[in-house]
Amino acid sequence: MTRDPSTEAHGLSELMVEALERLCIDLALAAGRLIRDDRPRSVGVAATKSSDTDVVTVMDQRSEELLHRLIRYARPDDGVLGEEGVDVVGTSGLTWIVDPIDGTVNYLYDIPAYAVSVAVVTGDARTDGAWRPVAGAVGDPSRRVVHHARRGGGAWSRPEPSDDTDRETRPGTSPKMEVPRRLTVSSEDRLGRTLLATGFGYDPEVRARQADVLRRVLPQVRDIRRIGSAALDLVRVAEGTVDAYAESGINAWDLAAGWLIVEEAGGVVVGVGSHPGKALTLAAGPALIEPLREIFQPAGHQTH
Ligand code: IPD
Ligand code: CA
Repeated sequence: MTRDPSTEAHGLSELMVEALERLCIDLALAAGRLIRDDRPRSVGVAATKSSDTDVVTVMDQRSEELLHRLIRYARPDDGVLGEEGVDVVGTSGLTWIVDPIDGTVNYLYDIPAYAVSVAVVTGDARTDGAWRPVAGAVGDPSRRVVHHARRGGGAWSRPEPSDDTDRETRPGTSPKMEVPRRLTVSSEDRLGRTLLATGFGYDPEVRARQADVLRRVLPQVRDIRRIGSAALDLVRVAEGTVDAYAESGINAWDLAAGWLIVEEAGGVVVGVGSHPGKALTLAAGPALIEPLREIFQPAGHQTH
């Protein structure tokens, strides 16, 4: 367990950072349960063609409202920034950055790869390059797992604790199962053997540029995966189930928790400079970062 100068500089004790990590986990679990268990059973894409976005928007908003309410209750002086519009400036120097459903298209289609991302950061959360995560959690409610990290504390995955009702309905569930597993990035160092996760924005013009970048990248890697949730892509890098992740156009709420989880799993996360962000986010084990930079950022190439 290493002390980290960035948390020390903000006067955060180890105990405080631990408590923040625990709160991240609880929040990601609570919102994860909500979006999974309250997802209307009748929501099929075909059945909701005319109102499909509404269903997702309602659940997105309910999840963000829950996160906001729980954060205000536990940490009334902290700021909160959420994808659905919550934007509270705090007085403590800490800001919570939340994505109430990351992977909304998967959620709509009932593809089990969506997440809740919760992170607490220092610095100016509204400016790319001006903040850093201190603790974070990514809840993966379909797999009933939560992934989490705090600065200097390693990266971990643990099963969602089963409540009593769950135990009754799933008698095989044993408390022994709820032991955290430490995450470590892959040691792959050859670009040609790299399984690369990526994603695309919603804007057609951005997509056209991303397709151009992909045309250049695809022949140089083992293959790509478009899983549909940036937060889960970053978790996959952390657990070594993909070798790397690269995307342009993503927002602070997509990457805040996953960034820390990758770093605490021994990986590196960078952008055009050292800070990941909208212009570019690259995540991988240390040996792959420079080769990835070279293909995603050849001189003069626009990445997004
Ligand atoms: C999106 C997902 C997707 C990524 C997009 C994000 P959302 O977030 O993370 O994987 O490619 O860039 O906007 O809209 O599902 O919260
Ligand atoms: Ca998102």
